[in-house]
Amino acid sequence: MRFIGGKSLMLGQIEQVIQDNINEEITVIGDLFSGSGVVAQYFKKRGKKVICNDMMYMSYVLVRGMTELNSMPTFDSLGDLNVFEYLNSLTEPLNPTNAFISLNYAPNKNCDRMYFQPENAKKIDAIRQQIESWYTDAKLLESEYFYLLACLISAVPYVANIAGVYAAYLKHWDKRTYNKLNIVPLDVIHSEFNCESYNLDAKKLCELKSFDLAYIDTPYNQREYIPNYHILETIARYDAPDIKGVTGMRNYERSGFCSKATAKNAFMDLFSTLRAKYAVVSYSNEGLLSTEEMLSVFEQFGTVKIFEFPYRRYKSKLPRNEGGLKEQLYFIDFGA
Ligand SMILES: C[S@@+](CC[C@H](N)C(=O)[O-])C[C@H]1O[C@@H](n2cnc3c(N)ncnc32)[C@H](O)[C@@H]1O
Repeated sequence: MRFIGGKSLMLGQIEQVIQDNINEEITVIGDLFSGSGVVAQYFKKRGKKVICNDMMYMSYVLVRGMTELNSMPTFDSLGDLNVFEYLNSLTEPLNPTNAFISLNYAPNKNCDRMYFQPENAKKIDAIRQQIESWYTDAKLLESEYFYLLACLISAVPYVANIAGVYAAYLKHWDKRTYNKLNIVPLDVIHSEFNCESYNLDAKKLCELKSFDLAYIDTPYNQREYIPNYHILETIARYDAPDIKGVTGMRNYERSGFCSKATAKNAFMDLFSTLRAKYAVVSYSNEGLLSTEEMLSVFEQFGTVKIFEFPYRRYKSKLPRNEGGLKEQLYFIDFGA
């Protein structure tokens, strides 16, 4: 999934920094801010045990669905049903009065929001409610439940009337919104390990788990993630939250890494709790904290090296204007 701050274009560099600086076999990698899960999947493919985490529930669902399974789910309790064909054929929610997405994010007599065409909003509700109903009726294993939710979350952006994120909808229907929502099976990566996923503040995860290497990819500016993905968060949770404003925003917990006033303390807290031999931290040279501030934290805990790479972006219609923007990788050896 396209994800703000996603590291799909940095995977090679992250791996190179690890290879060049560690002379022993490492097995357990903690991806403490896993976002789209692209880094976790990359290291799972390379035979590592990955422990993933994100405070955003939609991210947890995605990552859990994609990295916890080691073989394709078989949906035994659903018998011969072709699960994907069946889900894609649904048009009406089981419970129309609780069809939160159709009622709040597609045009109807009480709603002007244009996030989805009404037919697709109904399909999202229909599929989401069917997955929940199967799970409640013990027709899905927990791993199958999260896998199907991840497939649904991954399919929604292809029909959403947005320019990348859900903080606003477009005022005219984009042509992609006329496509029918189609959920497809996500690939499953085989591993000899059981990878794990958590939905916690990263500091809390560090109280519970230790790692050979922690990959730490915090937000580096004031842009909070949940407002940008609020509809995916609501589809994942399906908790009928109180929403407000033009975009129908849900309330959310703020991240300590998204404010200049709290970011340094957030890093200090995290590093004081972290139990790992090594860490790699992704950041930007134009982030809320300067390179000196970052070093002043990390050097209290171990020896630090910095690697910088020109910022690369996905193909975009926007003009290039990155100036001196650089992606940074801090490598920290805790000397354990
Ligand atoms: C830069 S993104 C990570 C991108 C990810 N590495 C990828 O490639 O897709 C930062 C992530 O940190 C999460 N986050 C922010 N503060 C957090 C915290 N205190 N604990 C755990 N996750 C947090 C956000 O929800 C977001 O998904």
